[in-house]
Amino acid sequence: MTEEENILTVKNLSVSFKVRNRTLNAIRNVSLNLKKSETLAIVGESGSGKSVLTRSFTGMLEANGEMTEGTVVYNGQVLSDLKKDKDWEGIRGKEIATIFQDPMTSLNPIKTIGSQIAEVVVKHQKKSKKEAKKIAIDLMGRTGIPNPDKRYNEYPFQYSGGMRQRIVIAIALACRPNILICDEPTTALDVTIQAQILDLIKELQEEYNFTTIFITHDLGVVAAIADRVAVMYSGEIVETGTVEEIFYNPKHPYTWALLSSLPQLGDKGDALYSIPGTPPSLYKEIVGDAFAPRNPFAMEIDFEKAPPFFQLSDTHFAKTWLMDPRAPEAKKPEAITNLHEHFTQLMKADTFQVFSEEGGEAVGK
Ligand SMILES: Nc1ncnc2c1ncn2[C@@H]1O[C@H](COP(=O)(O)OP(=O)(O)OP(=O)(O)O)[C@@H](O)[C@H]1O
Ligand SMILES: [Mg+2]
Repeated sequence: MTEEENILTVKNLSVSFKVRNRTLNAIRNVSLNLKKSETLAIVGESGSGKSVLTRSFTGMLEANGEMTEGTVVYNGQVLSDLKKDKDWEGIRGKEIATIFQDPMTSLNPIKTIGSQIAEVVVKHQKKSKKEAKKIAIDLMGRTGIPNPDKRYNEYPFQYSGGMRQRIVIAIALACRPNILICDEPTTALDVTIQAQILDLIKELQEEYNFTTIFITHDLGVVAAIADRVAVMYSGEIVETGTVEEIFYNPKHPYTWALLSSLPQLGDKGDALYSIPGTPPSLYKEIVGDAFAPRNPFAMEIDFEKAPPFFQLSDTHFAKTWLMDPRAPEAKKPEAITNLHEHFTQLMKADTFQVFSEEGGEAVGK
């Protein structure tokens, strides 16, 4: 893969936050390439740095945060050099848009839905108000809002959670972004609606051809939507690969643990596997492999020296000493040896029936 084919290139990025007099190292030495039109999923426990990493692509770090090292390059432009909020204006929303978990944070409760979409169209596509209304209604239709010309004049409170998220997606697309970052866009929605929103994002991606970064806790969602996966732990990427590589040939013991906690593996009613222990404090310097204290396969070296990335294929990299030729053989847990069966169907399916239980979103009125 040459640099030119990457729409976004992140090299050795570190991000830290000042909290009173202390420094919290949220992102440590992350490198990542995003290819045009692909869907990259970022997974990892809460606090692993998924949101902070992607916020740094749009200049949305809070005021106490800073990219301290490394570079982020988008389409040849060095974003990590941008200092002022004004400099980010041409990027944020316009080139790289983000959809967050709670649609209400992105919508204005006292403006009509339609006017909120049209406003963006006027601003970014330089259309007249009349043309913008037409485009907005069309976008509402495309994102699955029934009777869009009628519902154009309604307010956010008149929409269900799933419908509001569709509107947030419509607003994001009104700017015709090249990259769409979805930060847990379905976590607040129930399973059926989650499935519908995922279907929608997939369909729109085929139509508009944008590149997607999809942040999720749910590896089931990853199987359904992503081409490639980056697994994050304590501010680092510890394994990346295609969905197939991560699901069927995972190499990092943290990825094993994440996969073992997949709800799809449990029988109904069973307690889900959860990873014992807690991640290290990000205020302290981390010596060795950050996962070592929780890693049942940890060796002496894991507590002394951070592992490098070992390359397993053109696309598959794992940052664990277990890949060192001198390491004893460690087998992935039994529970995740036949993930293939669970996911082959899911990855091929157009719909996300695995997530759906009963019913559907009440569309229309
Ligand atoms: N403004 C801030 N000030 C201080 N620390 C912050 C700030 N924003 C994020 N952090 C810290 O950075 C780390 C990474 O946070 P981040 O929100 O990226 O995690 P995440 O992987 O997105 O988690 P979740 O799955 O819960 O959304 C966490 O330890 C978090 O507490
Ligand atoms: Mg987050």
